[in-house]
Amino acid sequence: MSVGYMEKLIVEGGVKLEGQVNISGFKNAAVAIIPASILSAGKCYIENIPHIRDVYLFKDIMQELGVDVELDENGTMMIDSSKLDKCCATYDLANKMRASYYLIGAGLGRFKEVEVAYPGGCNIGTRPIDQHIKGFEALGAKVEIEHGVIRCRAEKLVGAKIYLDVVSVGATINIMLAAVLAEGTTIIENAAKEPHVVDVANFLNMMGADVRGAGTDIIKIKGVDKLHGCTYSVIPDQIEAGTYMIAAAATGGDVLINNVIPKHLESITAKLKEMGVEVIEYGDSIRVKALDNLKSVDIKTLPYPGFPTDLQQPMTVLLSTADGTSVVTESIFEGRFKYVDELKRMGANIKVEGRVAVVEGVKRLSGARISVTDLRAGAAFIIAGLIAEGTTEIENIYHIDRGYEKVEEKFRKLGAKIKRIRD
Ligand code: EPU
Repeated sequence: MSVGYMEKLIVEGGVKLEGQVNISGFKNAAVAIIPASILSAGKCYIENIPHIRDVYLFKDIMQELGVDVELDENGTMMIDSSKLDKCCATYDLANKMRASYYLIGAGLGRFKEVEVAYPGGCNIGTRPIDQHIKGFEALGAKVEIEHGVIRCRAEKLVGAKIYLDVVSVGATINIMLAAVLAEGTTIIENAAKEPHVVDVANFLNMMGADVRGAGTDIIKIKGVDKLHGCTYSVIPDQIEAGTYMIAAAATGGDVLINNVIPKHLESITAKLKEMGVEVIEYGDSIRVKALDNLKSVDIKTLPYPGFPTDLQQPMTVLLSTADGTSVVTESIFEGRFKYVDELKRMGANIKVEGRVAVVEGVKRLSGARISVTDLRAGAAFIIAGLIAEGTTEIENIYHIDRGYEKVEEKFRKLGAKIKRIRD
């Protein structure tokens, strides 16, 4: 996928970030709400959609399926799936991104039949979808996987009680999508509580669904006959906000991060404070002001409201120059330490043993040529470049563009010396 993507980011280290940054709409909510919209044949207007590659890819996927989609400069996406009469996403489309699996829940919900190629995505671990499948089957669907394609069919979908064996954002959302038009009530137990689960539930309710309890570990979905179009605005990106918070702290800067929901950032705020960073919460913004000599802390990634796995990598970079030893435990994705080898090339002292990384703080990192392994590692490398001595050349930035809107523009506005070049 990255073949031919010859752009690089060049980062000069040593600048303290200062000023204000505005956070975009949440990627992981947008890539669920866009496919969820096909549950209704009415027109949906979705605001605060970030201009990122994953959104553009999803727009292409939807258009190939036969849906009318327009995205304007302000981030409002119009989706009209009234002409859609089936949902069939081929390998070429679905393999481009993980979130294409939401077409299974949405397509099954609307047409009671769907065919989607087995999803691709970031290289961070095995990423099974057994819990999604268990949910569809419980609702009465027959699920077959053949030649890399997932095919689900149901005479009718009937509400059921589904206990998730692992807390999964994807399975929780996908089951909600399949259940909103089912007969009777579906109960998801041990549901994921992430902010985007709540955002998708709110969107579904805005289309006329009856979903209650999202944000707790029991979600109740009463099936309705039909959904209608609506206008909805996506919540701010918790992970983008956390990335800028960590970047501000790492550079010893002072940054006001606007358009955030501080409640969604509590786990990051708590850890930064523990390290000695000043974090001040306002209504919809948060200020991060760092002093020198930050203290090491231990981190364990967990489902929300625990510390998000998507910020493990940026946080590890911050810890790489903190005073003392930190232990970082990755309990969600076993492959999410692959980027550490690149960080070591910048002088970080990190030992990885399975799901645990032991980070010995060093005085400073030094700029190097590094290659991005996945989206959040990319964000982490920008932060590493900002605190390193000298120049860092970041390759394979395709991954960063998947999920961060106007990344170099936003960092430059905060004073960073960062530019994009074509190789
Ligand atoms: N899992 C299973 N079976 C399943 C589903 C998940 O065992 O059927 C396991 C996974 O292997 C993992 C854990 O459950 O160990 C949690 O996975 P989850 O399903 O919650 O992850 P996801 O839905 O595939 C979303 C985000 C990820 C984010 C995780 C965790 C989207 C599109 N992706 O993935 O975001 O890391 O939740 O919060 O929403 C990113 O943005 O960089 C990213 C990777």
